[in-house]
Amino acid sequence: MSVQTFIYKNTNISYTDEGKGVALVFLHGFLENKNLWKEVVPDFTSKHRVICVDLMGHGVSECLGYVHSMEDQADMVFALIHHLKLRKITLIGHSMGGYVALAFAELYPDVVKRLMLVNASSRADSDERKQNRNRAIEVVKKNATAFVSMAIQNLFSEEFAQHNQSKISAFKKEALQTPIQGILAAIEGMRDRIDREVLLHFSPYPVMILGGKNDLIVPLETLREECENNETQLVEMETGHISPLENPQKVSETLKKFLHQ
Ligand code: MLT
Repeated sequence: MSVQTFIYKNTNISYTDEGKGVALVFLHGFLENKNLWKEVVPDFTSKHRVICVDLMGHGVSECLGYVHSMEDQADMVFALIHHLKLRKITLIGHSMGGYVALAFAELYPDVVKRLMLVNASSRADSDERKQNRNRAIEVVKKNATAFVSMAIQNLFSEEFAQHNQSKISAFKKEALQTPIQGILAAIEGMRDRIDREVLLHFSPYPVMILGGKNDLIVPLETLREECENNETQLVEMETGHISPLENPQKVSETLKKFLHQ
């Protein structure tokens, strides 16, 4: 796997680029990085060009500012796609990566072939959620390590946590590498993101949402409501919030079906 760097507005962006064929672009979520997809990517590289990006302020990509809006991240992804000379892409976004994918789809609809949201809602934060984000900002400023450790406890289904402590520890170790500026910029960006539910009703490209029955961050109930009365397909998994880590096989299988429809 070759890791490459793209310079966007004087900011180093790290990504991987493998395989040949119709392009798939994978975007990770909050406190994650492009490795999130490492068990999914090999299922696609024989037929697709697969790009995994470290969003700004995450992984080894640098921060661009003190707030990274979903649109800022989408603009960066568009610049990368332009740099790679890709004309149409299937975008797969996990959680915050899904919010970025939605912003991208709104800003650059002509580039989108398909959109897959994994554990991600198209709705904006409720007022209560926004207040929780403000509280989170204060905790991060005081003790980012404590914040990350706490945040990670809520991410996995009990079933997965019982048998996969080593995977969770590895995930936590990587999450702890996220720079404080990146964490704060992402929390503010997520808090201020706009509602994009309308895209599920009027998108010219197929949309699929993958939800986890044990997801405490993006509840399946909300996703069910969002997928009512529109063409969006909802696939329900027995996972918590990090479906690509809990069940990469099922994520791959579902994405393959989606690509063949
Ligand atoms: C994520 O996993 O990307 C975030 O936790 C999503 C969120 O907080 O809304």
